[in-house]
Amino acid sequence: MKFFAALALVASITPALANVVARQTKGKLPAVTVKGNAFFAGDKRFYVRGVAYQPGGAADAQDPLLDIPSLKRDVENFKSLGINTIRIYTIDNSKNHDEGMKLLDDAGIYLALDANTPKYSLNRESAQTLHRSYNDVYLQSVFATIDAFANYNNLLLFFSGNEVINDKNNTNAAPFIKAVTRDMKQYISNKHSRTIPVGYSAADVAENIELQALYFNCGTDDERSDFFAFNDYSWCDPSSFTISGWDQKVKTYKDYSKPIFLSEFGCITNKRQWGEIASLYHSNMTSVYSGGLVYEYTVEPNGYGIVKIENGKITPNEDFDRLKEAYKKTANPNGDGGFKQSGSASQCPPGSDDWNVKTNTLPAIPKGATKYMNDGAGKGPGLAGSGSHFAGKASESTATAGSGNPTRTPDGSSSASGSTSQGAAAGVDVPVRFMGMVAASVLLGAVLLF
Ligand SMILES: *[C@@H]1O[C@H](CO)[C@@H](O)[C@H](O)[C@H]1NC(C)=O
Ligand SMILES: *[C@@H]1O[C@H](CO)[C@@H](O)[C@H](O)[C@H]1NC(C)=O
Repeated sequence: MKFFAALALVASITPALANVVARQTKGKLPAVTVKGNAFFAGDKRFYVRGVAYQPGGAADAQDPLLDIPSLKRDVENFKSLGINTIRIYTIDNSKNHDEGMKLLDDAGIYLALDANTPKYSLNRESAQTLHRSYNDVYLQSVFATIDAFANYNNLLLFFSGNEVINDKNNTNAAPFIKAVTRDMKQYISNKHSRTIPVGYSAADVAENIELQALYFNCGTDDERSDFFAFNDYSWCDPSSFTISGWDQKVKTYKDYSKPIFLSEFGCITNKRQWGEIASLYHSNMTSVYSGGLVYEYTVEPNGYGIVKIENGKITPNEDFDRLKEAYKKTANPNGDGGFKQSGSASQCPPGSDDWNVKTNTLPAIPKGATKYMNDGAGKGPGLAGSGSHFAGKASESTATAGSGNPTRTPDGSSSASGSTSQGAAAGVDVPVRFMGMVAASVLLGAVLLF
C-alpha cells in the first residue's frame, strides 16, 4: 500500500515540475551555499574569481548564453584566464539554456546572474514610478528567470538589482529593491529544492554605500539579502591595498554577517596592473571579502574590455595578458580564509539627508503575484515582451514582518515554519565613513533601468 501511495504522489506532482526539470541538467559542479560571511562549494571556501560577460555592452541587451559558437570561443579564454565565474546582466527567460550552461559547467565556471532585464525592472525615475513598477507583471518575469536557471548547479547566485540606487537622491528605491529580494527568496524556497543566494549589486555612492549594506542586512530574515555586492572602481593604478583605501573598507565591514564581494571592479584611469588581484585574494581581505568580478570581458565604447572583437575574430589585449598573470600568481589563502561562522543582522540605518527611507517596513508583494508562489511563474516574457514598468497592478499595502517566509515546500506541502527571525537585534557598529570615492560606476553602462 505504501508503495502505491508513494507512486500516486509522484504522479501528482510530475505535471507541475515537468516543464522545468525535463529541460535542465544539474551539471557536475557542486552548488555553492552561504555559511556565515562566506561562500562554500561543498566543504571548500569559494571565492568569486570572475569577469563580467556582456558582449555588445549594456546598450544592446542580448542573451550571450544563446550564441553558442561565440560562447564556445569565449569559454576557451575564460579557461585560459583561470576564472571560475562570469556575470551576465541580461538573459532571455523564454529560452532554454541547457547548452550554454553545460559549456560553462564543463569548463568549471559558475554564473552570477542578474534577474532583471531593461524592460522588466524597477523604474527609479520618481517615487511614483518606483511604486508603479513594483508589480505582478515584473515579478512574473523575475520568477520565470529563477525557474529557467534554478536547476543548474553552476548557477551561483541571483542579483535582485544592479545600481538602482546610483546617486544621493534615489535612496528611496531601497525598500523596493529589498521587497524584490524578499520575494525572490520566498519564490525559491517555495518552488525549488535548492537554496540559491540572492542579493543586490550596489553602486559605490560614497554618501550611501555603507547605509545600503546595513539596510539590506537588517530586519527579519525573510527580508535580508544572502550577500552584499558592490561595484568598486576606487583602486586606480598605480595603487596598493592602503593607497586605494581598501584596507579601510575591510575595517568598515569587519562585522558584516553576510558574504561581501565586488560585483564589478577594474579602474581604467591609468594602465591596469591588476594589483587588486593580489589583495582581494589575500588574507588581508578574505575575512570580509569573497573575491570579485572584473569589468569586463569585451571592449565596448566605455573602454573597459580585455578582449577585442573585430569581424567575429577575438583578440585578447594587454589587459587580458596582465590579468591572466595576476591570477596565476595569486592563489587563494590556505584554509578558510578567516571567515566568520556566524553573525547577526545589521541595525537598520535611521532616516537622514543621506538616507531617504523613513520607515523600515516594506511594500507587500503585489496581490497578483502571490499566485505564482503556488502555481509557478509559467513562461517568461523574454526580451521581446512589452515590458513591465507600467503593467499589471502595483503593491497596495505594507508588509508585516516575516511575510516573506516560505509558505510551502517545493513538493507542495504547506510549510510549518513560522517566523524564525532573529529580528533586528544586535548589529554592526555605526558605519565609519570613507570619503572621496564618488562612484565611477555611476558613469558606467551597466545600469538596467532604461
Ligand atoms: C537626482 O540628481 C541627478 C543629478 O545628480 C538628476 O539628474 C536626477 O534627475 C535626480 N533625480 C531625482 C529623482 O530627483
Ligand atoms: C597586506 O596588508 C599589509 C598591511 O597593510 C600591507 O603592507 C601589504 O601590502 C598587504 N598585502 C596585500 C597583498 O595587499
